[in-house]
Amino acid sequence: MGFINKLFGKSDQEEVTMTNEKLNIGIILGSTRQGRVSPQVGEWVKGIADQRGDANYEIVDIADFQLPFLGTTDGTEPGIAAWNEKLANLDGFVFIVQEYNHSITGALKNAIDFAREVWYNKAAGIVSYGSTGGARAAEHLRGILAEQKVADVRTHPTLSLFTDFANGTEFTPQDLHVDNVNTMLEEVVSWSGALKTLR
Ligand SMILES: Cc1cc2nc3c(=O)[nH]c(=O)nc-3n(C[C@H](O)[C@H](O)[C@H](O)COP(=O)(O)O)c2cc1C
Repeated sequence: MGFINKLFGKSDQEEVTMTNEKLNIGIILGSTRQGRVSPQVGEWVKGIADQRGDANYEIVDIADFQLPFLGTTDGTEPGIAAWNEKLANLDGFVFIVQEYNHSITGALKNAIDFAREVWYNKAAGIVSYGSTGGARAAEHLRGILAEQKVADVRTHPTLSLFTDFANGTEFTPQDLHVDNVNTMLEEVVSWSGALKTLR
């Protein structure tokens, strides 16, 4: 393409910008409690994702934004704007979901509630864990995402507290989950690309 760009007067820098079209996918850690295992799960997903080379993957930790509880402040905390800015720069999401009382964490629900249009017309995958693979929490999240116009893909790796964690604290995933994570990521990237055309 270099010689064609020279003919039309485009610089090399413009060429790099035009061809750098990888999507940005955020791997969102849904728990914020001290001693949480979600960073281990998120890093494992990112390790698999980075080997694919099909998107820019990054860990997005809700805890970093120090969001207040919605409605309890005047909304001027810098973390609220930073959270919205981060979401605005993402094309798709992988939610790392843990089951708390048969649902998602309050922290994740609060973070979802703190943004609106920046969620719209994007895609998401879910990786969940719990005593039953976090399935109940994941199904709740699907309903919430629909309201935020986020399209959730079908393939859903479910990790068991009994067989994928040692003592419930050290993440020791079985190999069988890797194929599922790859299929989920494939779906997230293709749907995120398709939905980008609507924005
Ligand atoms: C408040 C609370 C409620 C929980 N409720 C459930 C539950 O309903 N079902 C389940 O499978 N696990 C439940 N658990 C276990 C969590 O899924 C497990 O501790 C998991 O590691 C939490 O994720 P985290 O370490 O990233 O915070 C609960 C844990 C907490 C802290």
